[in-house]
Amino acid sequence: MAKTEKKLNIKQGHWILAKLGKRVLRPGGIELTDKMIESLKISNKDDVVEFAPGLGLTAKKTCSFSPKSYTAVEINEEAASIVRKRVKYDKMRLIVANAVESTLPDSCADKVYCEAMLTMQSNKNKGTIISEAARILRPGGYYAIHEICLIPDDVSEMLKRGIYHDLATAIQVNARPITLPEWKELFANAGLEVVSYSTNNMHLLEPKRVINDEGVFRTMKIVFNILTHPAMRKRVLGMRRIFRKYEDSLRSITILAKKV
Ligand SMILES: C[S@@+](CC[C@H](N)C(=O)[O-])C[C@H]1O[C@@H](n2cnc3c(N)ncnc32)[C@H](O)[C@@H]1O
Repeated sequence: MAKTEKKLNIKQGHWILAKLGKRVLRPGGIELTDKMIESLKISNKDDVVEFAPGLGLTAKKTCSFSPKSYTAVEINEEAASIVRKRVKYDKMRLIVANAVESTLPDSCADKVYCEAMLTMQSNKNKGTIISEAARILRPGGYYAIHEICLIPDDVSEMLKRGIYHDLATAIQVNARPITLPEWKELFANAGLEVVSYSTNNMHLLEPKRVINDEGVFRTMKIVFNILTHPAMRKRVLGMRRIFRKYEDSLRSITILAKKV
């Protein structure tokens, strides 16, 4: 396992995957990340902010567009130091802070985005973080997310509660995916208008997706690490079992919204 990932000594599902060598930790894979980044149309005129860069994979992609500035707000000290090492961009700034209160000034960004972070927040915090994105955006600026959504729109409360319970047990994070209308409501409450969205299946741990996201060589390394670490193998298989169990109810989604 890479030294940097070994430092993430945390029980949460995404850090287990990171320790095993997985770099793509967002629900819709590289495919949906690419759609999200494409929708943002990042240029050298943009001040870009990313909440929760994790291991810095999308950060690299963003910086390849040479934005006027790239600022990452990451709550986890170790993750932030990994991003610092992996992403070399002279206009990059890293802030170790909670996205609830990014410490950034009002109207300082043209584009803001985050992946695989809001779903793991309570609904109150989801709203607070979306409002924080709206606060730091300039009027006309864009906010994009890449998260998990529940289908159908009128999913029963009982099923929702079952999904929340099983996800919390498997991932050891209180993941609370919501439906598209619920996401739209949170955006509207923050003064953001949904412009477009796109969905994908929740195949984060399915072999075809892993190969597509990580490449053949890294997938082989991940499989080796899974086979040689029984405790982590149990956790990964537990997560995959829950994703499969709720295959018909969980989708990954990217949403683009504009500050009106
Ligand atoms: C599942 S990982 C996703 C990382 C990355 N966005 C990706 O898609 O690969 C979740 C990340 O969100 C960060 N995070 C969680 N809550 C946060 C918060 N309130 N503010 C900033 N970062 C947060 C975690 O430290 C972690 O890096």
